[in-house]
Amino acid sequence: MSIKDIITVPNETLKKISEPIEKVGVNEKKLVKDLFETMYNSNGIGLAAVQVGILKRVIVIDVSTKEGEKKPISFINPVIKNISDETSTYEEGCLSIPDTFIEIERPKICEVDYIDLDGRKKNLRCNGLLSTCIQHEINHLDGKLIIDHLSKLKRDLIIKKISKIRRNPSRIIV
Ligand code: NI
Repeated sequence: MSIKDIITVPNETLKKISEPIEKVGVNEKKLVKDLFETMYNSNGIGLAAVQVGILKRVIVIDVSTKEGEKKPISFINPVIKNISDETSTYEEGCLSIPDTFIEIERPKICEVDYIDLDGRKKNLRCNGLLSTCIQHEINHLDGKLIIDHLSKLKRDLIIKKISKIRRNPSRIIV
């Protein structure tokens, strides 16, 4: 297992559409392990493969809130089947967009078809935080980010701010 570097905006890879997995094998299992390790290391609750630069339709999620109690779920080729009319709103952040939180309204309940790590077809009804999280991650697989919910002006400002921070040579993160 290894912790991968998470790519951030304005990296163009984040806008690309990820490819479906044809068969779940050793490489896919390793990718899922790496994604979990990378996600936990950054204190995230979800991560898509594209965020470590791999354009495959794989996401990992753990929305458990209790300390020391992990509930990891991995989704391969996830597809949203049904959504509720009722919505919920969260202030969403993203590991690929540092220090940015955007209020986003999404369907409160969604049903997701996916393949698990053993290659079996699964269906999961997601509610509340899990529903929002999986929709956020599936957006990543389609090259869509939370800043795409904003006007172009606001989006450009955020990207400019992040690029400036990263270019500043006197700022270091160790
Ligand atoms: Ni994200």
